[in-house]
Amino acid sequence: MAVILFQSPKGGTGSTFLAAQLALHLAGRGYEVNALDCTFQNALKMHFGFMPSQPVPELDGVEGEALVAFGVKLLQAHHHFRSQAFLREAERQLDRLFDPAHIWIVDVASEDRPLLDLLTPRCALHICALLPTAASLATLNRLSETAPAMQLDRTVFVLNQLDDRQKLSRHSHSFVRDLFGDQLIATVRRDEAINEALARFEPIAKNAPTSAALQDLRFFASAVEERIGLTQAVGEANVTVPGDV
Ligand SMILES: Nc1ncnc2c1ncn2[C@@H]1O[C@H](COP(=O)(O)OP(=O)(O)O)[C@@H](O)[C@H]1O
Ligand SMILES: [Mg+2]
Repeated sequence: MAVILFQSPKGGTGSTFLAAQLALHLAGRGYEVNALDCTFQNALKMHFGFMPSQPVPELDGVEGEALVAFGVKLLQAHHHFRSQAFLREAERQLDRLFDPAHIWIVDVASEDRPLLDLLTPRCALHICALLPTAASLATLNRLSETAPAMQLDRTVFVLNQLDDRQKLSRHSHSFVRDLFGDQLIATVRRDEAINEALARFEPIAKNAPTSAALQDLRFFASAVEERIGLTQAVGEANVTVPGDV
């Protein structure tokens, strides 16, 4: 159905967190969602309540028991995408691997530019999480060697960990909004409840149902659905966006 990539040239911006939240939202809307962790860190599973020691099935491994939580099927592919067998015929392999009956949420590590380049032509959307910090915004020119970030037509941005009490955060927000216009699809407020929920291996909706960031995340997920044309597929009846609540 669609491949959605999460990758940011800087680590720690919330790519894995946002990938998990989008997967949870889309599964809740009735889509068949696979969440594919392509990072060495292999931390995506923690956002679905699994311990760090929990093995995650390999993307192209032997058929075994699937790992499913909240309707999302978890897979990993860090080793697979580096294997000689895969790289020898990557194009054909990719056609085979990404079953089109599912939505694929793919978490790509910040330094894994080769994988980003390989997958971008096949994705419906590349979501780049940014922080309102100089260190994060300074990496924007590392997104592509051929075009400025504003001209990457499959790439959109989420400004994460916003805190309107901080001047730099407010200014970064204006800067990114002016630079990217519609390419900035959402902002997510900084909220310690996110880290607390992760520490408890619980969904934020359960651990902190009144979290302001939860509203932002719903809005983010709806913006993605609209951007890739998913909204019509299931209908909007179950979606709560800020303003509805
Ligand atoms: N909006 C937010 N508010 C507070 N903490 C956040 C927020 N978004 C992400 N985090 C935390 O920031 C840290 C880095 O997030 P992570 O998704 O692992 O980044 P990345 O995958 O880009 O390296 C995690 O501890 C995560 O829980
Ligand atoms: Mg990560």
